[in-house]
Amino acid sequence: MNVLVIGSGGREHAICRTFSKSPGVTRLFCANGNAGIAQVAECVPARPDDIYALADFASKNAIDLTFVGGETSLAIGIVDEFESRGLRIIGPGKEAAQLEASKSFAKDFMARHGVPTAKFTTSHSPAFAILELESGDFGDENSPVVVKADGLAAGKGVVVAKNRAEAVGAIKEMADLVGTAAAEKIVLEECMFGREVSLLMFADGEDFALMPPTRDHKRIGEGDTGPNTGGMGTITDASLLTADELQTIIDTMIRPTLHGCIREGFRFRGIMFLGLMMTAQGPKLLEYNVRFGDPETQAILVRLETDLVDICEAMLDGTLGSEDIKWRQGSSACVVLASDGYPQKPRTGDIISGLENVGEIEVFHAGTSKDEAGNYVTSGGRVLGVTATGDDLAEALSTAYSAVTKISFDGMQYRRDIGK
Ligand code: AMP
Ligand code: GLY
Repeated sequence: MNVLVIGSGGREHAICRTFSKSPGVTRLFCANGNAGIAQVAECVPARPDDIYALADFASKNAIDLTFVGGETSLAIGIVDEFESRGLRIIGPGKEAAQLEASKSFAKDFMARHGVPTAKFTTSHSPAFAILELESGDFGDENSPVVVKADGLAAGKGVVVAKNRAEAVGAIKEMADLVGTAAAEKIVLEECMFGREVSLLMFADGEDFALMPPTRDHKRIGEGDTGPNTGGMGTITDASLLTADELQTIIDTMIRPTLHGCIREGFRFRGIMFLGLMMTAQGPKLLEYNVRFGDPETQAILVRLETDLVDICEAMLDGTLGSEDIKWRQGSSACVVLASDGYPQKPRTGDIISGLENVGEIEVFHAGTSKDEAGNYVTSGGRVLGVTATGDDLAEALSTAYSAVTKISFDGMQYRRDIGK
């Protein structure tokens, strides 16, 4: 079978690496890929938003299965385009992808289907958003409040404001931060407090299969300080959610969401990612993502024992309910190595050394290329994801961190407190 993966980061390296282990895969392509992905797949140039060129490529190269990494292609309807040409592809259609692409759509959907989430309101202009704040629904001038741009904003569209003055500032600056289109509507949310956990699942429209729960560390600095990033490291560990919490999430979020999609005329097939806040009042949903997380995927897929092709076939055939998906027991950890200046102004072109010394540990490439001399060099903000499994979290972390010490490049930054 010929497989095409769309994307070029650490997540896609982990997806490609997993497909490369499948006995059924004869040729594996990645658009665009990166220097690490090129070790396991044939990289082809294509923009993730050029869905027609991608579909042409899939037709011409007899691609039997396409797997979409990121949200950009999903939000503009890559799945609908492929399916209209009879091409098999994993991911939700354009309508279901709005669960991630539009925060107001997602919040209204949660409200319609009774999914527990933060109290919210949607405003169609900055002036109205400020009036909403002053109405008192979000507390007094000293209350924290969360300001979100409606559209896709590559992680920049959310400001957790400490008080009303900061929230007003964030509302006024949102369009500058993320562009006018993404900030066309502004969502204000009650600020919730608690532990954050990410729970991902495979979904076939009706049934779902959970992946191990994960935790992402989003801030650049140790102790959760400094600016937000795409994610500086993740762990998977069963202790992140108790059996009771998991059952509550299934009953109050997952089933209502999948049934809600069916009732509203679109099925959710692909990867569903719940961003959760474990509050004193129980689990609440922060957001939906409609794809694998990055770097959550790296830590998740190193534990997958079942053939990913079989899982994809089950998602497409609607037989996920009878698929027995096996995970390696224990835990895993992924430590992201980022370039100098990340996240504000990442420097590129630094030579990476020591990759040959890490042994069996998986080092997923997020932002690398090769220079003319054949050296791996940095080519993005997040550069590598050093990923290890262990019988428990302590073992996974110590294996990952001992591999980290073998790798270096100028300006390399990483957090020493992943999983703490
Ligand atoms: P989102 O993209 O909606 O997940 O938001 C990004 C991050 O902002 C989340 O991971 C949380 O840390 C934070 N956040 C979003 N919404 C809220 C909320 N209502 N209360 C507290 N923190 C939030
Ligand atoms: N690591 C967060 C995300 O992929 O959305």
